[in-house]
Amino acid sequence: MDTKEFARKLFGLYTSGLLTLMVQIGYRTGLFEAAAKGPATSAELAERAGLDERYVREWLAAMATGGIVEYDAGSRRFTLPPEHATCVTGTSSRNMAPASQMLTMLAARLPRVTECFRAGGGVPYSEYRPDFTEAQDASWRLLYDGLLIKGFLPVVKGLPDRLAAGIRVADVGCGTGHAINVMARAYPRSTFVGYDWGEEAVARGRDEARRMGLANARFEALDVTQMPPEPTFDLITTFDAIHDQRDPLTVLRRIAGALAPDGIYLMVEPKASSNLEDNIGNPFVPYMYAMSVLHCMTVSLAEGGVGFGTAWGEQAARRLLAEAGFGTVEVFDAPGPQNSIYVCRLRAAVR
Ligand SMILES: C[S@@+](CC[C@H](N)C(=O)[O-])C[C@H]1O[C@@H](n2cnc3c(N)ncnc32)[C@H](O)[C@@H]1O
Repeated sequence: MDTKEFARKLFGLYTSGLLTLMVQIGYRTGLFEAAAKGPATSAELAERAGLDERYVREWLAAMATGGIVEYDAGSRRFTLPPEHATCVTGTSSRNMAPASQMLTMLAARLPRVTECFRAGGGVPYSEYRPDFTEAQDASWRLLYDGLLIKGFLPVVKGLPDRLAAGIRVADVGCGTGHAINVMARAYPRSTFVGYDWGEEAVARGRDEARRMGLANARFEALDVTQMPPEPTFDLITTFDAIHDQRDPLTVLRRIAGALAPDGIYLMVEPKASSNLEDNIGNPFVPYMYAMSVLHCMTVSLAEGGVGFGTAWGEQAARRLLAEAGFGTVEVFDAPGPQNSIYVCRLRAAVR
């Protein structure tokens, strides 16, 4: 790549950052939902969404030149193609618009993270809240709604049947607890508990469980490095909640210690290799490393932790799981390209 090409690439990155902010505006104002109703001029769309026409017109120009909406100069109408609408509207797990708020949440911590490059240390979780909680929830909520019951859990043969019959389940590092509540609704005979040290996150989980009328879901604010061996669970899950721990090994040992002898630990973690050279060329991994600097590695280092980082990868994960006492670990692709599902059992498989 020569200098001119690289300069273009760099400018493309800056453009993507700004367009991400435009996507966030489209999401927050309801403009995408309004645009999905059919072709519209800026005035018609502004009217439909109840917004100021001048702002809508400028936003539409960014969306049209950015390749998100199409523009017909003859009718002066803008169209959100159905294929694009799927990715920015609605309640399907393919709607990526809610996740756009991750960028602003992280950008707000940039000065603090930059200081750490000189001084070392990190930025603790508490400095990311409450908007981290909101951005994380927004990034995963629709995935849980669409894919948890139909896509994630069935990778373990027989697990949906066991859940339907009634087992004890814990989700460790549960955040706002939507995974727990979705599972508790689907499997009323099983009992569910979510653990997270974020008080405001588990409070949201409790509120949602109450609103959903779930008697089989509860939440505890808990530092999971202190998770007790009792009660035991037949299934323990973690979703995106190991790599940013201060002490992931202790957490995995605690999980192993709280698992029934024939229990299953299902760990969902970003899909990457532990070797940088394997990750070069993988279009999903730059996001992970950047996310790591701006949050995941940094929150761990803030507590004097190991700071594995978001793309700690399969080789490191397997090593740590073995060290924590898991005799069998199988790795599957999660639905979507970014995550792996580790299915872990205490006993080694008898062959
Ligand atoms: C990346 S978030 C994932 C949250 C949730 N599983 C989800 O899918 O939205 C990681 C979560 O782990 C929690 N966490 C990190 N260290 C923890 C600890 N030592 N004890 C309890 N929770 C912890 C954080 O508060 C955060 O909610």
